[in-house]
Amino acid sequence: MTGKGIRFKWGNANSCTRIIRYVIIGSMRLLCLIILLLSSCQAVKAPPQLLPANQEINIIVVTDIHYLDSELLEPYSSLYRALTMGDGKITHYSPEIVSAFVDEVIRIKPHALVLAGDISFNGEKKSHIGLAQKLQEVKNAGIPVLVVPGNHDINSRGTYLYSNDGPKPVPNVSKEEFWSIYSPLGAVHAVSMDKNSLSYVYQISEDLQIMMLDTCQYERGRVRSDGIIGEKTLVWMEDNLKKAKDAGITVISVMHHNLLPHSSLFRFGFTIDNYPQAVRIMEQYGVPLNFSGHMHIQHIARSGEYSGMYDIAANALTVFPNYYGTLTIGPDKSMFYKAKKVNVSAWAANAGVTDQNLLRFDEYAYAFMNQTIFHRMNERMANAEISDEQRAVMIEFAQMLNTNYFAGSPSETNEENEKIYDLWKEHFPNFFTRYFDSILKDNTQSTQLFIPARGL
Ligand SMILES: [Fe+2]
Repeated sequence: MTGKGIRFKWGNANSCTRIIRYVIIGSMRLLCLIILLLSSCQAVKAPPQLLPANQEINIIVVTDIHYLDSELLEPYSSLYRALTMGDGKITHYSPEIVSAFVDEVIRIKPHALVLAGDISFNGEKKSHIGLAQKLQEVKNAGIPVLVVPGNHDINSRGTYLYSNDGPKPVPNVSKEEFWSIYSPLGAVHAVSMDKNSLSYVYQISEDLQIMMLDTCQYERGRVRSDGIIGEKTLVWMEDNLKKAKDAGITVISVMHHNLLPHSSLFRFGFTIDNYPQAVRIMEQYGVPLNFSGHMHIQHIARSGEYSGMYDIAANALTVFPNYYGTLTIGPDKSMFYKAKKVNVSAWAANAGVTDQNLLRFDEYAYAFMNQTIFHRMNERMANAEISDEQRAVMIEFAQMLNTNYFAGSPSETNEENEKIYDLWKEHFPNFFTRYFDSILKDNTQSTQLFIPARGL
């Protein structure tokens, strides 16, 4: 009896101990969960520590990633064929290019990463979520990620899964969804938000701000391809620039559409509709530099001949030569910009990738660009009365001009290619001649820029 009693008691004591242990373990788990939740809330809500004034600041800028989530592209879909006839976007390798880029950003560890819109292929929700997951790695490395939308990112009507059986519609994102996906990466800490657009001001240091300007035009549930800084946003912009100037803070700006004309041929639809007004305000408050995308080519334009400001329109990350930009701002606010190729080959070798296109990516990207130019030109030249030999040298000339144009390098003309150009003028006096004229006129060395210190 006693033994049973003891056993019973012991059994009872064991149950009590277990209950106490469960309560203690349960409480500890709950406490851990609360701490985790509080620390994650802290990670989102606590403003980042402001860097002191007069310190060198490094920023990485990138545009027109046109990221397409790998699950939205099946191997035998019609998009592959369309891409070889397209505008040079290496969309089918966009996840790999972005992975290589993200690794490079984390290694460089700038004070901020800035994306100037058209970050998704054509606004697919899945692409936005997939890209934000990759960018979260940058955020986790302590680098704020600042994003503005481009004309392909929000309310897109062309969002598809490119399946082997043909394109199938998939969800896009609204303005609110776009903001909820990307703002936790950096914009949530903005020091000023525009009520009428997704524009905001992010403060990097005590004497440097980045003004992220949403230049998209939302109309009847769609986004137009041309851009503008809306009237109310201009008022918000000027108010912030005035406050910054009064406080001795230098401001650089970022937008998707171009602030200044970059081409004598492509102006409407590219340069924001009210650029004279916007530039005048920015110049008035001493903004030295704007960063934009949209054209996919690399080109630097300057307002005014001896003063004014610069607009760097950057090459799209997924288009040859796959540039992103590094911007170093000295303690005196002098600025040095340099375009750099993302090193996909090094990333592929490191990641154990066996795809030769990725392991020799520079060659692949150059060949892909030339292939798209060949297909587009060859198709349009189908009915021209020219020999095969003439056709070949004319296409070669077009490839040389185009690849240099996208790379921000001037094209040299000589006696030999002047003769080839004459063939273009003779057989295609309209669009192609005007296009090549504009390249030869506008194509300047645009891969780097130094802006001396100006003072406010
Ligand atoms: Fe784009």
